[in-house]
Amino acid sequence: MTPARAETILKSSHLLGIEALSVGEIVSLLDLADTYVALNRSANKKTDLLKGRTLINLFFEASTRTQSSFELAGKRLGADVLNMAVRTSSVSKGETLIDTATTLNAMRPDILVVRHQDSGAAELLSRKLDCCVVNAGDGSHEHPTQALLDALTIRRRGRKFEGLTVAICGDVLHSRVARSNIHLLLKMGARVRLIAPRTLLPGEAERFGVEVFHDMKKGLEGVDVVMMLRLQLERMSGAFVPSTREYFRFYGLDAEKLKLAKPGALVMHPGPMNRGVEIDSTVADDIEVSVIQEQVEMGVAIRMAVLDALSRGLALEGRNSP
Ligand code: NCD
Repeated sequence: MTPARAETILKSSHLLGIEALSVGEIVSLLDLADTYVALNRSANKKTDLLKGRTLINLFFEASTRTQSSFELAGKRLGADVLNMAVRTSSVSKGETLIDTATTLNAMRPDILVVRHQDSGAAELLSRKLDCCVVNAGDGSHEHPTQALLDALTIRRRGRKFEGLTVAICGDVLHSRVARSNIHLLLKMGARVRLIAPRTLLPGEAERFGVEVFHDMKKGLEGVDVVMMLRLQLERMSGAFVPSTREYFRFYGLDAEKLKLAKPGALVMHPGPMNRGVEIDSTVADDIEVSVIQEQVEMGVAIRMAVLDALSRGLALEGRNSP
């Protein structure tokens, strides 16, 4: 089965964040991704939509789900996919981000997927290179494909965004996943609650248009979706929480606290999970409530939709065509 082709979906030739997307663009990407979920569940998962195109994955930070799903997405669409192993590349010899990317650009890739520890890295590259750039996570700024796959997961569980209440809990301060989800959920008409200790919230978090709770039990009352975030210890320079054990007691999701949410509430986590720190295994592994594995499945479909959408722009512009 080959998903139906439609006109261009994205105005920009890059996907740098959710903030700049319109509701129409988000909905079109979700609709397109639905067709890829069906394709991925069939025996022949391959199309030749990106045949002849080159996709480079340039990941400066560790990744399991995001990198492998971009790789699979590219391959299932028929592109040649190169995974740059940053640790064994010249980056370890001191080459700058721009030099590395310009070198790769000279090999004429069509799409560069980049993850980098600095906020704004993907945007910077999009201005320097002539291929499409996809942000696979830049510092604590944005992680657009994660928010899109989360939205697809919620929508496919039959939830309507209008009037939905989503609690995003944990290390919001360091989380690009939280930022992209806040933008997306608010654009789509959902209500967002942030639940975190003061030390793990950005200053004036309310200015995002969200409700803020420091008491998890109060924050979880009646919510439709509970999105847990990993405690991002690698981004913390000092002690943001007294101890992970204490953190779990107040901010870890367990069956007891989950009872406060609406019956049938969905539990989500972008992964990787710190079991016993932000989430208890009894909740994470309970397929009655947890959609964590579905999020991973939706990740491949969303990335296929994004690559498809960007490739339509390539065809229109004749980019990299002889
Ligand atoms: C997230 C990330 O890297 O921003 N992971 C992911 O992409 N699934 C969240 C995290 O690292 O905690």
